Amino acid sequence: MNRFLKRLSLEKPIIQAPMAGGITTTEMVKAAMDGGILGSLASGYLAPDTLEEQIRIVSDHSKRLFQVNVFVPGGEKMPKDEDVDPWKEKVPGSQHAGTFMTIEEQWDDFYRKIDLILHYKVRVCSFTFQLPPVKVVQQLKKEGCLLMGTASTVKEAVLMEERGMDMVCMQGSEAGGHRAAFLDGEGDSSIGLMTLIPQTVDAVSIPVIAAGGINDHRGLNAALALSAEAVQIGTPFLLCRESGAHPSHKRRIIESSGEETRVTSLFTGKKARGIVNDWMVNNERFEHMVLPYPHQHVLTKPMRQAATQSEDPSRMSLWAGQGIGTLQRETTVKEVIDTFVELEGSV
Ligand SMILES: Cc1cc2nc3c(=O)[nH]c(=O)nc-3n(C[C@H](O)[C@H](O)[C@H](O)COP(=O)(O)O)c2cc1C
Repeated sequence: MNRFLKRLSLEKPIIQAPMAGGITTTEMVKAAMDGGILGSLASGYLAPDTLEEQIRIVSDHSKRLFQVNVFVPGGEKMPKDEDVDPWKEKVPGSQHAGTFMTIEEQWDDFYRKIDLILHYKVRVCSFTFQLPPVKVVQQLKKEGCLLMGTASTVKEAVLMEERGMDMVCMQGSEAGGHRAAFLDGEGDSSIGLMTLIPQTVDAVSIPVIAAGGINDHRGLNAALALSAEAVQIGTPFLLCRESGAHPSHKRRIIESSGEETRVTSLFTGKKARGIVNDWMVNNERFEHMVLPYPHQHVLTKPMRQAATQSEDPSRMSLWAGQGIGTLQRETTVKEVIDTFVELEGSV
């Protein structure tokens, strides 16, 4: 039994990845907990009241551990009108977009979520997008909460360990959804998991968790062989009946192969991997002009919502990892977990 399993009192070294934007549901987290893996609530984009309701639902369901994942705000300034105006013309429905959140409002939202984690004594908390503030790390650790940082390079993993994280989730370039990179601009943060894991294991002393393109026992065994102590799985759980992903999103994942995903910042202002669609192709030449996250996300929200309502995947953010070629049908959380134990002795 490795340190990850011991510290989290888990049977299987598997984490159901937090997937913000309505994809992670309490049904998904409950089924993950029932299946003996770590379930993850995704607090990104959720109002604190909704997060509170979700924490209550999953806490009432089982005594098993679950984690809450939190987006750590960056230092982005409010965009200037001259940068916003060209996007108002390009993005259909942008006139219905909400107001941009100031950095103070983003921190307020973050701290309200941390207060809930403390109040409900959530036992595991993970952070993505930035290093969490020192004070928050100290507060949570004092209450016995286990902390996991997310990183995409060895340098980021070392910073996460120095910040006091108990474990680090390494996101390979294969991963679906937003890139966790927070030292963007320093070299190339798109590193494949095969090279990322052993280099990170050599550089830090905390348990390393592997994320990106791991869909079944083969990926799990490879990650464990590279000295990761657990894996974090996103896209396969997105395809489950318990997921809140739109049917068109699921359908596109089933129809597509690994080479049909790409990293884009056109939807949210932050790099994320998804299945290529018309919005990405038609606006590729404007990538350099995107508004900083989360402002581009706010501006494109009405467009994405309208696309969802009209079942038009050409303008949805179809987040998915490079492993989609092996995902052939809608499943359940239990079926996904079972694919990790297909070979005797896999977990
Ligand atoms: C739709 C979607 C939403 C995601 N949302 C989050 C999130 O809210 N927080 C987070 O830390 N990671 C998020 N991720 C990234 C996952 O934690 C993980 O790195 C990734 O799913 C692993 O790659 P895979 O999708 O190939 O399994 C998301 C991934 C996807 C596919």
